[in-house]
Amino acid sequence: MSLLLLVLLLPLPSISGLPFYNGFYYSNGPHGQHRGNGYGEGLFNGVKLVVETPKETLFTHRGANATLPCRYGYEPALASPRPVRIKWWKLSENGSPEQDVLVAIGLKHRSFGDYQGRVHLHQDKEGEASLEIRNLRLEDSGRYRCEVIDGLEDESGLVELELRGVVFPYQPPQGRYELNFYEAQRACEEQDAVVASFEQLFRAWEEGLDWCNAGWLQDASVQYPITWPRRPCGGLHLAPGVRSYGPRHRRLHRYDVFCFAPAPKGQVYYLEHPEKLTLPEAKRACEEDGTQIAKVGQLFAAWKFRGLDRCDAGWLADGSARYPVAHPRPNCGSLEAGVRSFGFPDPLSRQHGVYCYRQR
Ligand SMILES: *[C@@H]1O[C@H](CO)[C@@H](O)[C@H](O)[C@H]1NC(C)=O
Repeated sequence: MSLLLLVLLLPLPSISGLPFYNGFYYSNGPHGQHRGNGYGEGLFNGVKLVVETPKETLFTHRGANATLPCRYGYEPALASPRPVRIKWWKLSENGSPEQDVLVAIGLKHRSFGDYQGRVHLHQDKEGEASLEIRNLRLEDSGRYRCEVIDGLEDESGLVELELRGVVFPYQPPQGRYELNFYEAQRACEEQDAVVASFEQLFRAWEEGLDWCNAGWLQDASVQYPITWPRRPCGGLHLAPGVRSYGPRHRRLHRYDVFCFAPAPKGQVYYLEHPEKLTLPEAKRACEEDGTQIAKVGQLFAAWKFRGLDRCDAGWLADGSARYPVAHPRPNCGSLEAGVRSFGFPDPLSRQHGVYCYRQR
């Protein structure tokens, strides 16, 4: 399309005597400034700046490099390129401030904050403004805006980036509703995870997560996902859904937490060992195997992304004992896939094996 227009326009370049002619009036003010220094004023009647980004969410994983596509152009197309300013920023997710990611004018770039040294603008083709983010972090998931500024024209498009991962509810050894928001953040980090966002919990609910205890989310709201309504979980009259207690006091209020663990880099395995172990023995046994006792987030991720399936309960780093079931069967817990928990047994009891984690 733009190629066709270009071909049609090429034979006409200088008839008008204006510095730039594309079949539309050039309204550059009374003094007829030259293009180039007319930045900010060079508007064309009837020419529209268009920015295109993909509608589908981009899925990727922690540690990967992702390219957020963004292209811009003019309708109708212009005969020659114009200097534009490109700005990428990350939208706020209820409560967290928006973040500048990168701005570029011509070939000059500047990136900000956590993105410094990790972002790169693809400008190899005309109209290209895609952003590459390297070595993705869990916190990078979210919505990004690609903004193109040409003089007074300003258009933008959205790109949604999601990291693959699994949402799981977490309760500390002390029991139910013991964590304020900051402790909840720490609890997830200790499981190699982060506090889940509402979008992540919602997606998990769509995939069937049902949990009757309320937990913190990234925006410091407290919610819980219900797939089949029942009396102790908000009552029978409420429709299935993610139910919210709304924003809570980060320091004073205490709940469980929903954590989000990334798709695994390493491998979780059940250690073949002649006898059952205490918690300290379990930690040592993994070390003797050249690995480490697995964290809760790592076990969930291995279950979800690697189909880890084992009917033996094993110790994990936080002192809980669990086992992952990818293919439900009789004599192996309930008839739904999931990670089953035995809570936090006496650390010196010898009734469990151990799950270890091998870094790749
Ligand atoms: C990401 O890009 C950098 C630079 O091009 C490269 O060195 C690195 O291997 C890439 N990482 C992955 C996971 O592809």
